[in-house]
Amino acid sequence: MKKYQKKIFPVEKVRRFLEPGPTILVTSAYQGATNIMTMGWYTILEFSPSLIGCFIWEQDHSFEMIKKSKECVINVPTVELAETVVAIGNTTGKKIDKFAQFGLTAVNGKKVAAPLIQECYASFECKLVDAKLIKKYSLFIFKVVAAHAAVSPKYPTTIHYRGDGQFMVAGKNLNMRKNFKPQNL
Ligand SMILES: Cc1cc2nc3c(=O)[nH]c(=O)nc-3n(C[C@H](O)[C@H](O)[C@H](O)COP(=O)(O)O)c2cc1C
Repeated sequence: MKKYQKKIFPVEKVRRFLEPGPTILVTSAYQGATNIMTMGWYTILEFSPSLIGCFIWEQDHSFEMIKKSKECVINVPTVELAETVVAIGNTTGKKIDKFAQFGLTAVNGKKVAAPLIQECYASFECKLVDAKLIKKYSLFIFKVVAAHAAVSPKYPTTIHYRGDGQFMVAGKNLNMRKNFKPQNL
């Protein structure tokens, strides 16, 4: 087995190794306006109920929209949208309508007012269920109340942010199903 010779690494950059799931587009709606932000910092907290913790910087326009409406939609883009994902993260809904600017299609959800993005592979309607950590950590705890996902391809080619402008593009699967304890699947 390979052994790694490690060097001291800056603690403020460890996120480059840890940033986990696909980069997502979070949509919101408040007082007739809609918005989209790009997000890499979120984590699964529980699967039933389906809970997700999201970091939303207080200077983002989305922060107030989501705090006030108590809802959002988490949309999962694929690699074809990489340029749009970065452009959405480079702009603010304070100044532009991002659906119009980036040619994305807003689709009504079933449980929340925030729109689904039709060009994304999956969209999860969320309600804010715990606001206690917003003040201290800008961390919003959402419950997924409705989920919509395409069925093909089975494993979408998602993009995963590594920091420093680099994305990892989802690649080959390693099937280790037979090694798993059932409760860990
Ligand atoms: C790859 C990427 C990941 C990002 N992750 C986050 C994040 O997790 N939380 C956050 O608050 N902002 C994140 N941002 C920055 C926001 O998307 C950015 O501030 C955006 O302009 C906010 O839009 P808004 O002002 O319309 O809400 C990310 C940007 C990029 C490009």
